Amino acid sequence: MYICLEGIDGSGKTTQIELLEMWLKKCGHDVLRVFEPTNSVVGKLIREMLQNPNAISENFQITLALLFAADRTVLMRDITEAEAEAKIVISDRCFYSSMVYQNESEWIAEINKHAKQPDMVLLLDIDPETAISRCDGMDSFEEQNFLVSTAKKYLKLADQQDFMVINANNGVNKVHDDIKRIVAHKLGMCI
Ligand code: TYD
Repeated sequence: MYICLEGIDGSGKTTQIELLEMWLKKCGHDVLRVFEPTNSVVGKLIREMLQNPNAISENFQITLALLFAADRTVLMRDITEAEAEAKIVISDRCFYSSMVYQNESEWIAEINKHAKQPDMVLLLDIDPETAISRCDGMDSFEEQNFLVSTAKKYLKLADQQDFMVINANNGVNKVHDDIKRIVAHKLGMCI
């Protein structure tokens, strides 16, 4: 089982994925938590590039898309191995982030054709104003207008791809409860 959390910067993915991991482990599941960009050399290069003031520009997206796809390829091996060991893989972002941030296109789909399709995508949908107040502003993507358009693209994709949309404007505990309910249903667990 491969579950992915998606959402704009500041939507609370990292907090929620930590809570989800703790809860799944408490319920007796073996869990692998992963994140994109990863901590690989490519992932580190990506993080450096994201701090460039031009990272938001169109020109940067081709390079970023290729780097994200390369970073993801290595991660896929870990996910396949974990799944073979019956672990639940929970991921902070997946190739859908590239479809939103680097823009949906056939080319993005092509360079990500080795990326695994998650069994379930949970989209943390949050008011961009609330989200921006939580960002440290280090990355160029953490900019108000960009977050507004990114949030819209996520909702459009959610509709096309059947993501589970969660209202992330609610408090941490309510969001966690909503996630638990959806994941428990998918795994056939009682809560
Ligand atoms: P983020 O989840 O915000 O990492 P962190 O919390 O460690 O800063 O991801 C970093 C940024 O990378 C975020 O702005 C979204 C962007 N991103 C893409 O543009 N394309 C992608 O394919 C992925 C995975 C992330």
